[in-house]
Amino acid sequence: MIPEPDVDMMADESSELIHTQIVKKDPSKLRLKPNLLGYEDLRTTFRWSDAEKMVDWFPGGKINAAYNAVDRHALGKRKDKVALIYDDGEGNFSKLTFDQLYRQTNKFANVLKKIGVKRQDRVFFFLSRSPALYIGFLGAIKYGAIASPMFPAFGPDGIKDRMLDSGAVAIVTDGELKKRVYEVVKDLPELKHIIVTGKEVAQNEVSLDTEMAEASDQFEATHMDPEEFSYMLYTSGTTGKPKGVVHAHKDIVQMHLSTYWVLDVHEEDVYWCTADLGWVTGVVYGVLGPWSNGVTQVGLGGRFDPERWYKTIQSYKVSVWYTAPTAVRMLMAKGDDLPNKYDLSSLRALYSVGEPLNPEGVKWALDVFDSKPFHDTWWQTETGSILITNFPEMDIKPGSMGKPLPGIEAAIVDENGKPLGQGEEGHLCIRPGWPAMMRQIWKNPAKYNEYFRNGWYYTGDTAQTDEDGYFWYVGRADDVIKTAGERVGPFEVESALIEHPAVAEAGVIGKPDEIRGNIIKAFIVLTPGYTESDALKTDIQKFVKSKLAGHAYPREIDVVKNLPKTRSGKIMRRLLRARELGLPIGDTSTLED
Ligand code: PRX
Repeated sequence: MIPEPDVDMMADESSELIHTQIVKKDPSKLRLKPNLLGYEDLRTTFRWSDAEKMVDWFPGGKINAAYNAVDRHALGKRKDKVALIYDDGEGNFSKLTFDQLYRQTNKFANVLKKIGVKRQDRVFFFLSRSPALYIGFLGAIKYGAIASPMFPAFGPDGIKDRMLDSGAVAIVTDGELKKRVYEVVKDLPELKHIIVTGKEVAQNEVSLDTEMAEASDQFEATHMDPEEFSYMLYTSGTTGKPKGVVHAHKDIVQMHLSTYWVLDVHEEDVYWCTADLGWVTGVVYGVLGPWSNGVTQVGLGGRFDPERWYKTIQSYKVSVWYTAPTAVRMLMAKGDDLPNKYDLSSLRALYSVGEPLNPEGVKWALDVFDSKPFHDTWWQTETGSILITNFPEMDIKPGSMGKPLPGIEAAIVDENGKPLGQGEEGHLCIRPGWPAMMRQIWKNPAKYNEYFRNGWYYTGDTAQTDEDGYFWYVGRADDVIKTAGERVGPFEVESALIEHPAVAEAGVIGKPDEIRGNIIKAFIVLTPGYTESDALKTDIQKFVKSKLAGHAYPREIDVVKNLPKTRSGKIMRRLLRARELGLPIGDTSTLED
């Protein structure tokens, strides 16, 4: 069943929007004319070759994503335009123009060249958000390496899994975070260069500051084949370790177009994407897409803090804001008095991604941000671009993900690839071949192929459509957990848990949570000799946090006598979830006993 929007919005003729249960839009009254007008026509007339003309190419059909994000502006009329306003979260801010970003990224590319990094080598970044992270990431892509940012919250195992699998040759980190790298450095035989920012640099390391100071600020972006790789990010599935999702330089075509059409950036906008670069949203819509469009971006360091967030909007006059449902719910939980203390009138358009956006979030935004609703967007690390969304010109049905981008064929199909009718729940599938689609799961063709069946790309999500062609998210078809927007594989958490001496067996599920969407919940069987206590549970939580990542630990732990398993020994998480949530337990014919 499609959830009824439970918003009660008052009609207000004077505003840009006419609020009813559906958020009705009158595009002619919007502050700026949307870049996409005439969605329904475009769905039939649009060709990807049109979008290819929006980015710059080198002779012979070569391209470079970073050239498009930086160099073409620095060498053109946006040379002195501010590209980045970086605020460290403590009240200090700095600005970089496109010209400065160009020179700095050139320098970084020259540093990679000097130390002997080769084209398509993997260069990892383990840095908190800072100008150095933006510069390094773009510089590496410009050079022709495969850039991969990691969440600063990762523990040693999280780092090792990614760098070992990808055979990374270099890591850029800082004096503090490098300690976690050193815990696993002996397990990374292919790692040749530890590049460290700041002053605390050891003899075996490369000092980024020194090398940058000495490097030339001239570098010609490497002419890449459109199918050569630009960045990779590890993400979680149901089974096994995180998998390396690899993207190509050609993605920039769709990054550019989707930013232009969906986030609707205009020349005068100040755009703020709150996502970390360790997440695909941070890479695609916090670096490459917006800068390909030449827009000024805000980057905010430090932790989530409602006051700081509102202050950021006020101080830098943010007009377009891309964030996530958990953040929206956390802001909502702080109440409406807080936003009312700030001048947030610069805001023009709001977007969200990563988990279902509750209709309440859309309604709340209308109330506190002067009739601006959140626009939900749907996509994945693998899709490399927003694929289903609420466009600025389009009426919003609160709770719906919206409609497919022109050029994208999305459908609800069954296990056999048969399209289902309106209102029927099934697999959310996309017709393969869009420009930003992942090109590979690193060194794992079998995993890659699992996504493609019956001529469709299976997203792993279930959804349904309504009579107007809007898509509605239902859930995951697998055991992947979305907690505060982060994607966590239960297997990874289970593996970390059983490394704790007190844990003999572990099963992990996502448990619905009002703020975080889901929390990670673990069921564990204790090793003989251990007894259950709060102190033990806290110790286990700390252990997982330090190994895996700050966000990927079980907030709840239940000690059980045994776990439901199939006869082949696989933990039946479905049963754990059903028991926890009081749902029907379904087919148990494969259960061990
Ligand atoms: O389950 C869907 C959920 O996030 C998954 C993709 O996660 P990740 O690769 O980390 O990328 C997130 C940001 C691009 C999807 O399979 N998801 C993403 N957007 C939405 C969503 N669930 C509901 N509504 C959304 N708008």
